[in-house]
Parts: sequence; C-alpha cells; structure tokens
Amino acid sequence: MEKKEQLYEGKAKKVFATDDADYCIVSYKDDATAFNGEKKGTIAGKGVVNNRMSNMLCKLLEQKGVPSHYVEELSDRETLVKKVDIVPLEVIIRNTAAGSFSKRFGIAEGTKLKCPTLEYCLKDDALGDPMINDTQILAIDAATREELDKIAAMAYKVNEVLIEFFRTIGIELIDFKIEFGRFHGDIILADEISPDTCRLWDIETHQKLDKDRFRRDMGGVEEAYAEVFKRLNLD
Ligand code: TMP
Repeated sequence: MEKKEQLYEGKAKKVFATDDADYCIVSYKDDATAFNGEKKGTIAGKGVVNNRMSNMLCKLLEQKGVPSHYVEELSDRETLVKKVDIVPLEVIIRNTAAGSFSKRFGIAEGTKLKCPTLEYCLKDDALGDPMINDTQILAIDAATREELDKIAAMAYKVNEVLIEFFRTIGIELIDFKIEFGRFHGDIILADEISPDTCRLWDIETHQKLDKDRFRRDMGGVEEAYAEVFKRLNLD
C-alpha cells in the first residue's frame, strides 16, 4: 500500500493516508509530553519501542480474541493500521493504586486493589481529558450503550491477557490506558499499548519501567524503555 499525505500529527505519532481509504500508516516519534502537553521532551528510541511493542501486543490480543487496528509492521517506526473513527474516550484499567487514583482517593501508590477498576476520560485536550461516567457518555453521545458494553468487556479482557503476559517477563501491570475505534460497524482496539500508556513495574524490585520516569523527572527514562524492549525479546 502506498504512503500518501500526512493526515495528522499528534504528540507522539504522525498519521499518513494510504491509497486505500480503509487504511492508514502510523509513524511513531521519540517526542514525549506530559500533563496535557505542558511538559515536553524527547526519549531517544521510544518510537521504535512503542511501535514494536504495540504491534506485538496487538498480535497477542488478536490471538486471544480481541480485534485490533493492527495490520502490518512496515518498519521499526511505521505500521499499517485500519483507519478507524476513534471513540473519544480514554479507557483506563487499574490493578494497583498509582497516579491520579492514588491522589484522588488518598491511597498509597502500590496498594493492590481488591478488583480491577474501569474508568473513562473524555478525549479533549482543551478540557484536559476530564473524567466521565457511563451516563454522561451516553448523554453527550460520545458512544452508545452497546458500544460501551463492548468497550468495557474488551478492556477487562485486555487486562487479563496483559497481566498474564507481563508476568512472564517479570513485569507487574499496575494500570493502563487504551482507546477504541469504529471500523465498519465494529468496535476494535486502536492506538498504542506501550510504556507511554501503561504503568509497568519490575515484579521483584518495583522499579518503574514506564513514562512515569519522564513525568516525574526520575532519570533513567531511555534505560527503562530499553529494559522493557529487551524483555519483550523482539530481536
Ligand atoms: P493516571 O493515573 O495519571 O490517571 O494514569 C492512568 C494510566 O493512563 C497510566 O497507565 C498512564 C496512562 N495515561 C495515558 O496513557 N495518557 C494520559 O494522558 C494519562 C494522563 C495517563
């Protein structure tokens, strides 16, 4: 498929059209932002890690019955994906308290939750991606009841598959954010699954192997992405 004009440039990726309206090409950058773009930086090699990791996880999830936008890895940084109409929600699953959950509820980071939680944020940079509940989502028509039921079921399934997978490479899945898209009437997993969008802690040492190192100026950012990549055994 031929790469055509750039359709969009986001904070961490560029999207290009192809000669088929059903497909586009995602190109992963090393650019990193946090706090709704207030903090900016570069994480050398991040684009490659996030591209290859997302693709590997999409393939695994597809095998486990979760359909995704993934079609074909074109290079270290570029992937052919199905062109979806994105559902304007960030879907967050948590297994262990951290980040905004810890802050909001006053629960120490690292506290295991009795059951996984599911929460939604409305994808709207101008509003700072505010948290939104089911009834609000239906009321503003961000998604239908049927779509939301599918999204919730798929998100929990993604959690089960990813917890198990990460455990095999010595990583605890603390929480993650995923997004979904509409494609010919179906709801499929879209966007990346990477250290940008997951909290990943070493099972033994609880060392953070994710973007929190950048968000919190902890140092060792590139090293953390490289460590996750190494454990994925993709080379
Ligand atoms: P939070 O604790 O800051 O709400 O983050 C929850 C999860 O969502 C965490 O794994 C990081 C991820 N996340 C994103 O992928 N994008 C974002 O813009 C934010 C705020 C969090």
